[in-house]
Amino acid sequence: MTAADALSRAVDRLAAARRVTILTGAGVSAASGVPTFRGADGLWRRYRATDLATPEAFARDPGLVWEWYQWRRARIAACQPNAAHAVLAAWTQQDGWRVVTQNVDDLHVRAGTRDLIRLHGSLWELSCRANCAASPRSWRDERVPLPLPVPICPACGDIARPAVVWFGESLDPRGLTEAIEASDCEVFIAAGTSSVVHPAAGLLMRAKAAGAFTVEINPEATAASNTVDCVVQQGAEVAFPEIDVRLGRR
Ligand code: OAD
Repeated sequence: MTAADALSRAVDRLAAARRVTILTGAGVSAASGVPTFRGADGLWRRYRATDLATPEAFARDPGLVWEWYQWRRARIAACQPNAAHAVLAAWTQQDGWRVVTQNVDDLHVRAGTRDLIRLHGSLWELSCRANCAASPRSWRDERVPLPLPVPICPACGDIARPAVVWFGESLDPRGLTEAIEASDCEVFIAAGTSSVVHPAAGLLMRAKAAGAFTVEINPEATAASNTVDCVVQQGAEVAFPEIDVRLGRR
């Protein structure tokens, strides 16, 4: 099937659907200049996740981990939402159309997405490493650069950490429950994700098992390509605007 045929199939299903969920990954922000993790030139091809994105790495060397997050913050602060973020933001103005994201970059928020479920947290939020009773669960801090060596919890003075999910940590149960509920939909689109990190990757199979028509938008084949009903082999910044035009929304 060509990308154009796949796109037409997706459009037909979306035109008739009232409950639509789009799961996004790093590839949706790639056209904005945000590096992916596992794509060509991805972050995990240059750095080891175990050195930078685990609670053990932070306990060992918080300064190093914060340097890496500082670098990512600075890079992302210079990026703007792209056409994919804009279309998704417009779609979520309709009840029943929801975005679940693995991205910590905030570009969906800056594009105006309503009803956004953020599975892996935000790069612009901090939390107390000690999880002290006096501090909020997380607080917003958009400074670039943050004062190094490391920012601290204003309540207890212990070290603050990025309020993101690291390898080996559990997702916020409320967000995960909402995402599972959102996977009960008529059309489920996995866009810009390699579909290898769970539990996010499991949402697609859950949606399929519940009867959703499943679509993948990704220029490369992924772990999920053989299981979805329709593969649109294009960049998200191309596919979403094209689908939107065909839906007659523009
Ligand atoms: P990955 O880096 O694993 O996958 C990005 C996907 O985007 C790849 O399959 C690319 O082919 C695809 N891609 C590249 N450019 C694209 C474009 N223009 N349009 C659409 N797709 C494109 O990123 P994720 O699947 O998001 O976790 O990674 C999942 C999690 O692993 C991340 O949230 C992060 C990481 O470790 C945490 O930080 C907890």
